[in-house]
Amino acid sequence: MKHPRLNIVAGPTPLVHAPRLSDALGIDLFIKRDDVAGPTFGGNKSRQLEYYFGDALDKGADTILITGAVQSNFVRLAAAVASSQNMHAIIQLENRVPGKPDHYHKSGNVLLSHLLGPEILTYPEGEDETGADAALHERAEALRAEGRVPYVIHLSEGHPPLGALGYVDAAQEILQQGQDFDTYVVASGSGSTHAGLLAGLRGSGSGAQVIGSCVRRDATAQEARIARVTARLKKLYAGAARVSEPDIRIWDGALAPGYGQIGEPARSAIHMVATHEGLILDPVYTAKSFAAIPALVASGEIAKGSRVCFVHTGGLAALFAYEEAF
Ligand SMILES: Cc1ncc(COP(=O)(O)O)c(C=O)c1O
Repeated sequence: MKHPRLNIVAGPTPLVHAPRLSDALGIDLFIKRDDVAGPTFGGNKSRQLEYYFGDALDKGADTILITGAVQSNFVRLAAAVASSQNMHAIIQLENRVPGKPDHYHKSGNVLLSHLLGPEILTYPEGEDETGADAALHERAEALRAEGRVPYVIHLSEGHPPLGALGYVDAAQEILQQGQDFDTYVVASGSGSTHAGLLAGLRGSGSGAQVIGSCVRRDATAQEARIARVTARLKKLYAGAARVSEPDIRIWDGALAPGYGQIGEPARSAIHMVATHEGLILDPVYTAKSFAAIPALVASGEIAKGSRVCFVHTGGLAALFAYEEAF
């Protein structure tokens, strides 16, 4: 199946060996550098936006509407791509993380978004995906009445997971880079990245274990979500049919104290990766996903000496909104 796609990532991202972390952890570790995918500090959402913007442009849209947390990378990247396509962007920032200082609402991704020039809306609740999307639809209807052509990128479930196709591409890209692994470790939030990567690997014949590390909800809820996203993905990508239930592997050991809040495993992951490889993780997604690796090596779920790929999904801009956490 061919889906309209806008080229945003511009070529394969590096897949680099991490020798010092490999030594420290007793595994053979590679890092897929999707933190450098796309504009304005990049990230995994660049791959997902290739298909949303592809679809939007195909439908003649002139305005993109998208919702996310205050420090969302997705909305920041959508605003950047909209600018480059001469489209208007309306981004909605949800108050998902309670008790944050003033600079959390101004620095990091918020600062970048302001510079990129979208219209910025706010939404008071953090755990209401359907309500947040409904607010965007209301706005989209008003735009339609003015003769504009709006396109909503949904957060809630029940829509074709176009973004997951970006991670089917990433899986194929890694295999084309001449590598496959015993284990892949990736952040699991909306689930598009995790489900797309797993489906892309299975669809290409790889039996690697793919561990999704929870950033938003616990393992039980996330497992069910990935199963639903995968079921929807089958309609877009036939290879997703090769994913079976036991393939969906979830770890939630670094989720606490909750979305957008940093705990000890994530803090120590940031320290470990920075001091061993000179690479920076973000506090909301990649610190929590990397934290799965030492924990699962210790529990034996990742075998000593095995080949592991950590997918660095980016998010670095948010770090500057979290300086008090360090
Ligand atoms: C940097 C980063 N990593 C990982 C994720 C999680 O990706 P997904 O929503 O596809 O599960 C996000 C989501 O916003 C993100 O911004």
